[in-house]
Amino acid sequence: MSDEIRYDFGTGRSDPSTFPVAALQAAATKVIQEQAEALTRYPGNLGHQGLRQAMAEREREREGVTLDPDHILLTNGSMQGVTLTAEALQERQGDTVLIEEHSYPGTLSAYRSLKYDMIGIPLDEGGMRPDAVEQALKRLQGESRLPKFIYTISTYQNPTGFVMPRERRLQIIELAKHYGVPVVEDNCYADVHYDGPVEPACYALDDDPGQIYLCSLSKILAPGLRLGYVYARPPMLQKILARRHDAGSNYLAAAIAAEFYRDGIGAHARVANPVLKEKRDLTLKGLENELGDICVWSEPVGGLFIWVRLPEDVDRPALLDTARAAGVNFLPGQSFHFQSKDVPYLRLAFGHLTLEQIDQGLPILARCIRRCRSSNEARGFDGLF
Ligand SMILES: Cc1ncc(COP(=O)(O)O)c(C=O)c1O
Repeated sequence: MSDEIRYDFGTGRSDPSTFPVAALQAAATKVIQEQAEALTRYPGNLGHQGLRQAMAEREREREGVTLDPDHILLTNGSMQGVTLTAEALQERQGDTVLIEEHSYPGTLSAYRSLKYDMIGIPLDEGGMRPDAVEQALKRLQGESRLPKFIYTISTYQNPTGFVMPRERRLQIIELAKHYGVPVVEDNCYADVHYDGPVEPACYALDDDPGQIYLCSLSKILAPGLRLGYVYARPPMLQKILARRHDAGSNYLAAAIAAEFYRDGIGAHARVANPVLKEKRDLTLKGLENELGDICVWSEPVGGLFIWVRLPEDVDRPALLDTARAAGVNFLPGQSFHFQSKDVPYLRLAFGHLTLEQIDQGLPILARCIRRCRSSNEARGFDGLF
């Protein structure tokens, strides 16, 4: 037994071995020399123009739409975008927001701090369910508490890894427009894609100015850069900018990333994604070998997470302690539930572990799960829900 975590399936980080040290060093040297004067100034609300242009190009390549770089504001990771938009759209504490029943803990904690009343929308393999969205909107309208916005991680959802199909996106957009509710789409994992077609982002399907789009460099490059962005059109853009009081985000990091991505984000993604894909595949294989008789899990086509359903008879608090004592970390389902309900799931993040760690860690986790059950029965469910 050991308190040292050797197999950390907890955090959603990119792969350290593909971090482009030499290229970023060269970019840093160049931009410090060439942009020294600009670095002595405050960056301003929108931030480094070169990176905004590079991100507009990133979006154009993926979505086939043209973004005005002046409608992109650079943020301290996409998490700042989550908070800024929630602040901008809030009128008072207790305002409602629709959110996937299982969602990103950072967002949940931001909304909790702001005292939003979160309405959890059930998920299926296609993400947030439109029938439940419609029901909630109807009910809340009847109570004169229409949500201030709908928050969705529509692509490689965190924690499930699900992707919302195009048809469903259109349905949600139509509902949002019908009820006059903005959509905040968090595409933090965009471009971390492994196989199959790429579904379009919601903002690219409809140019309604109620749509707000959040994206990041954390998962395609590294979270330590703290670079993300919000794309919003006027007058929504001004509404969000009015909440910003920090004089802009890190100009040096933005300048280095802009130089690194001078020819697009594709070259690095072509190096990083196959490495991540191999880890996803190994994690799925390990789950099949170790837990196929008692668990069910998602098979994500992108992103960094696998969502695992546990048998009901697992003592979940004991599992977390037992696994950590055995050197394995993961995040329990409860961390993702909009009401912190102790649900029988756990999330595995595979991005930053080595193949060896994945290979060794999963059997240990599986033993811990079995040890924390009150029976040896085979699973009594076939799906994730
Ligand atoms: C859905 C989602 N949004 C936002 C974030 C925040 O990322 P960052 O601020 O590093 O861009 C994360 C990080 O895991 C996430 O999963």
